[in-house]
Amino acid sequence: MTIPKRMWWQNSSVYQIYPASFKDSNGDGVGDIPGIISELDYIQSIGVDVIWICPMYDSPQVDMGYDVRDYEDVYRPYGTVQDMEVLIEQTHARGMKIILDLVVNHTSDQHKWFLESRSSKNNPKRDWYIWRPARYVDGQRKPPNNWIGNFGGSCWEWDEHTQEYYLHLFCPEQPDLNWENSATRQAIYDSAMEFWLQRGVDGFRVDTVNMYSKGDMVDAPITDPKSEWQFAGFQYCNGPRMHEFLSEMNQVLQKYDAMTVGECPHTPDMAKVLKYVSRKEKQLNMVFQFDVVDIGQGPYKFQTTPFNWGLPQFKHAIETTQNLIRGNDGWTTVFLENHDQSRSVSRFTSDAPQHRVAGGKLLSLMMSALSGTMFIYQGQELGMVNFPMEWSMDEYKDVDSSNYYKMVADRSHNDPKEMHVAKTSLQHLARDHARVPMSWSDAPNAGFSAAKPWMRALDDAAICNAKQQQSDKSSVLSFWKRMLQLRKQYSDLFVFGEFDLLDKSNLEVFTFTKTWQNKKALVVLNFTAEEQKLVYPTEVRSQKSELLVSTLDTPASDKLAAYEGRIFMLES
Ligand code: NOJ
Repeated sequence: MTIPKRMWWQNSSVYQIYPASFKDSNGDGVGDIPGIISELDYIQSIGVDVIWICPMYDSPQVDMGYDVRDYEDVYRPYGTVQDMEVLIEQTHARGMKIILDLVVNHTSDQHKWFLESRSSKNNPKRDWYIWRPARYVDGQRKPPNNWIGNFGGSCWEWDEHTQEYYLHLFCPEQPDLNWENSATRQAIYDSAMEFWLQRGVDGFRVDTVNMYSKGDMVDAPITDPKSEWQFAGFQYCNGPRMHEFLSEMNQVLQKYDAMTVGECPHTPDMAKVLKYVSRKEKQLNMVFQFDVVDIGQGPYKFQTTPFNWGLPQFKHAIETTQNLIRGNDGWTTVFLENHDQSRSVSRFTSDAPQHRVAGGKLLSLMMSALSGTMFIYQGQELGMVNFPMEWSMDEYKDVDSSNYYKMVADRSHNDPKEMHVAKTSLQHLARDHARVPMSWSDAPNAGFSAAKPWMRALDDAAICNAKQQQSDKSSVLSFWKRMLQLRKQYSDLFVFGEFDLLDKSNLEVFTFTKTWQNKKALVVLNFTAEEQKLVYPTEVRSQKSELLVSTLDTPASDKLAAYEGRIFMLES
């Protein structure tokens, strides 16, 4: 097989920034663009190549900027378009690239397009959103179908003024755009994409990229008999015109050689994923699959208990995403965290004080050895963890968390046992954990802001912060820097190599090899809080091995310490 030309975004590591919580430069308790600019040297020092800025557009902030009021303006507390131009310029000046979040499945209900659309049934923009008449059941008005929204409740909202429902797969304040209308699509390309591409951005993370084509919108099967509203992700994702829309969108992107990474939920079928990321299809460069981060969750994310999965399931999820590039022309991503996930140390290892540093390094070592484009979320490079159970519900600011808690309260009539279970689930999985202020130092408010921040900063910033870790050779941050360098040095193996899972059913140790032509590396990861015997699987036992890196400074010869990981180079 001929090796396809390597593209700049394949061997890149991307650092994701959540503007509200990264760095506050003007003392209003909210992060901002000048704050990001002031830390570009820090970001560069980690060894990443690209920054991804979560939505910084003008927005009423019902869903933290994923409800865009104006694609061509910036949310004032974050800054201005001019500030963005400086950020783009300063990022490029350091040899890094910058991508933005492209949120075009829906807008805010305050966007001028929607204000026009809802003004009357005859408005020229009426068809820019998805309007349907009511159904009547026993004389009672009902939404057009039984779909549940991503944040609970029906995904249809009744509009008194024009006497129709509009579709919103997320909050009612996030009406879905009608991609079937070609004028709408053109307006999206011009306003949301070209406006920023012309200002020099290098690509987009494309929000909910597989939801634009809704199909026939018939009722979803009943999977939750207690609810009037049913999970419909398999219906509204990957609809019939998806590839046509993305091919069209790609023509805009191609003009700028822009990179894309699409968010691709509810798509366990790899053939479907491949169609999005295959090079010859010219759709997206890569997607975020949910196999790994959804582990242990049922169709209703929070209806679960922490650590209800076993290591073999985790291995299998990783194997699935790694195999996407095996023998075909697709590309994949490596990520464990983002603004929608809780902290990976808390989720996949242990955030107990004696283990959190080891856990952070273990995951860094594992990710650095996996193929695909690497994504690191702010604070992950420090091993930041979830906030504790003792924090009250007031500290949870995310609409997803509050809607869920309220739903359990309504359904159980505030039953204390059920409320405790709900809170336990939120403490483990809520998006809020990733959204607290970045821990910069042991100063008040974790050095994030001179004022009380919009979300409470972690109390443990005193022991886990960027300032301390920068000067500590044994810190999680120092380890990440080292691993990103090694990943570049051995990119054939680690970024492009083939992944083979060994010892699949082992419940404690995750072992795999990476292979590129005649080069091979062996990766062993102890996912437990106990020592484990270091065993070379039969497949590689006859090969001579040399230790490339361990998460420990002085690893033992015959055993792995708690949460220790190692990479060996194998001689062929
Ligand atoms: C996915 C985004 O990552 C999430 O934060 C947002 O709530 C939804 N899409 C809706 O835009």
